[in-house]
Amino acid sequence: MISNAMAQRLNQQINKEFYSAYFYMSMSAHSESENLAGMAAWFMAKYNEETAHAMKIYRYLHDQGARVELEAVDKPPTRYAGVLDMFEKTLAHEQEVTASFNDLVEATLAEKDHATSIFLHWFVTEQIEEEATVSNIIGRVKLVGERGEGLFMIDNELAGLAKQMPQTMDIQVP
Ligand code: FEO
Repeated sequence: MISNAMAQRLNQQINKEFYSAYFYMSMSAHSESENLAGMAAWFMAKYNEETAHAMKIYRYLHDQGARVELEAVDKPPTRYAGVLDMFEKTLAHEQEVTASFNDLVEATLAEKDHATSIFLHWFVTEQIEEEATVSNIIGRVKLVGERGEGLFMIDNELAGLAKQMPQTMDIQVP
């Protein structure tokens, strides 16, 4: 059993994960409209990942006998200035998510809620990898540019990365 305050925080995190999913689906849609199929696939894979993150917390709340209470998901941006803009917004967003998980871990320590603290470690580690991946993509976009052959190359690379990520709604709930 976890405290009501902790359950409320975890419900807020579910909402943030669904916002992340929605945000990445919006960038996938934008990419597809710009004929960037690899980028569209990568962002859609991110959508799937974020949905899985939300569901991981959903499952944890139920396993702890707490209530899942879903809130409205904010509208994400629908227009982006370019490829670099999308990935810089992605990095800034992931940094906010990292801060959110750090705050959650702090709260578990204050409550001596060790079970939730251990549960959240997976997310803390995941954030390191997510930020590193996006920083790497930003670096490569800056290197080759956002137009012509450079953009074509980045789009192909992202298609390759997307193939290694879950591509369907058939999400494995750990
Ligand atoms: Fe749910 Fe991108 O972290």
